[in-house]
Amino acid sequence: MINLFQPQVGDEELAAVEAVFKDRWLGHGPRTKAFEAAFGEYLGVPPEHVVFLNSGTSGLFLAAEVLGLSEGDEVVLPSMSFLAAANAVVVRGARPVFCDVDARTMNPSWADIEAVLTPRTRAVLLLHYGGYPGEAASIALRCRERGIALIEDSACSLGSAVDGRRTGTFGDLAMWSLDAAKVLTTGDGGMLYVRDPELAVRARRLAYHGLVQSSGLGYARVSHRWWDLEVPEPGRRLIGNDLTAAIGSVQLRRLPEFLARRREIVRLYDQELAGLGGVERPPALPDGQEASHYFYWVQMPGAVRDGVASDLLEADVYTTFRYAPLHKVPAYGQTGRILPNTERASEETLCLPIHPGLSDDDVRTVASCLRESVTSRTTAPQAG
Ligand SMILES: Cc1ncc(COP(=O)(O)O)c(C=O)c1O
Repeated sequence: MINLFQPQVGDEELAAVEAVFKDRWLGHGPRTKAFEAAFGEYLGVPPEHVVFLNSGTSGLFLAAEVLGLSEGDEVVLPSMSFLAAANAVVVRGARPVFCDVDARTMNPSWADIEAVLTPRTRAVLLLHYGGYPGEAASIALRCRERGIALIEDSACSLGSAVDGRRTGTFGDLAMWSLDAAKVLTTGDGGMLYVRDPELAVRARRLAYHGLVQSSGLGYARVSHRWWDLEVPEPGRRLIGNDLTAAIGSVQLRRLPEFLARRREIVRLYDQELAGLGGVERPPALPDGQEASHYFYWVQMPGAVRDGVASDLLEADVYTTFRYAPLHKVPAYGQTGRILPNTERASEETLCLPIHPGLSDDDVRTVASCLRESVTSRTTAPQAG
């Protein structure tokens, strides 16, 4: 089976885990600090603004919490977002308001966002689809002008940039998922960036029970009663640990290698699929933009997309569509909305396998299966 995603972990990650075992310090500790520092440096932000968490979802929930979202507030997000983004809003009692996207890039323009702003809009929660930065820079400016907070769901976009500036650093808060499918993985994990220094301190506190001092041993050096609790407000336990941070630090060093291979795969797909009638490849990146290439997506007539996915599965090639529109999910209360581009794109788009473990031959196999399936389904009478 040629899989959609596949983590790239090997001897270096294993050696890092072995070192943690030898030190017998598995929980939150020096390796977590080192990973946060390296991640902050990669982003070009101070390390104390970066918090390593147990998942990207925790990052979304924490972002919504530190912004103080509550009943009566609205948060604008593309309907084509991961469901955890909407969940993070809904559990605060706030209302997710879904916006449309460009049917080719699947990113929203400012006009898409502006169309659904109301006086109750407190935040915009932006996704960089497949790692394409889209209008992140200008959307951040417009949000700032209007006093609307911007959260960047950067789960897809570690490695993406606009004129050298990393995605996730345009808004007020950002999170990255480091789960097993992502460009960089710690198995499970997430990273949160908080621009405001006070909110950053608060986010770190809320990620560990709400405690002001989270390290017993460290605190013992500055207080004679290090077991006393200081809890300005209750929190949860959302922190990462040294075992997964050790893997993350190795992965971060290897990130340029992962990104380079992804770029090669994109070039190869582009070459192999060129001239395939009825199939659109991902649009070209605008000048100055870099993408993580977390997804490679193709678009084709909706009448054949599902059948093509089945043919590929039969041929041991796993494809999928991300992200199924949230305005169609009754739990979010907006099934009456019509978002034409989102609806069309969600019927016409298919995400193909892309990860650095794919060989050139794998890519050619996927491309030729796709070519064969699309050709037969667009020229022959429809099969079921
Ligand atoms: C766009 C997006 N946001 C958030 C998440 C949630 O991240 P995690 O799986 O680390 O909780 C994911 C995970 O797939 C995602 O794709």
